[in-house]
Amino acid sequence: MEMAPWIRILLLLACLWFPASVECMVRHYKFNVVLKNTTRMCSTKPIVTVNGRYPGPTLVAREDDTILVKVVNHVKYNLSIHWHGIR
Ligand SMILES: *[C@@H]1O[C@H](CO)[C@@H](O)[C@H](O)[C@H]1NC(C)=O
Ligand SMILES: *[C@@H]1O[C@H](CO)[C@@H](O)[C@H](O)[C@H]1NC(C)=O
Repeated sequence: MEMAPWIRILLLLACLWFPASVECMVRHYKFNVVLKNTTRMCSTKPIVTVNGRYPGPTLVAREDDTILVKVVNHVKYNLSIHWHGIR
């Protein structure tokens, strides 16, 4: 989903108003959830991956950054996404 223009403006102003956090930024990621055949112990089976990788990609951000993740589910069943390492 695209971010509403007023939110972009709000974020921009927030960055301008607080010079100490002038580094804050919006980081965009796109997750394509796809099946990928993986061979382990001589047997091949499809696993759910993000952008062809399992575990999924690492998101890098600094304090006060905003992260927008667009998730596109290309597999035929519903799923949930969760995160590790959030403080
Ligand atoms: C995985 O392998 C099966 C059997 O060879 C094949 O039919 C299927 O299209 C493959 N799937 C992917 C995602 O490559
Ligand atoms: C996925 O979830 C939606 C919303 O809860 C539901 O309507 C749909 O039937 C689910 N699809 C499958 C394949 O479970």
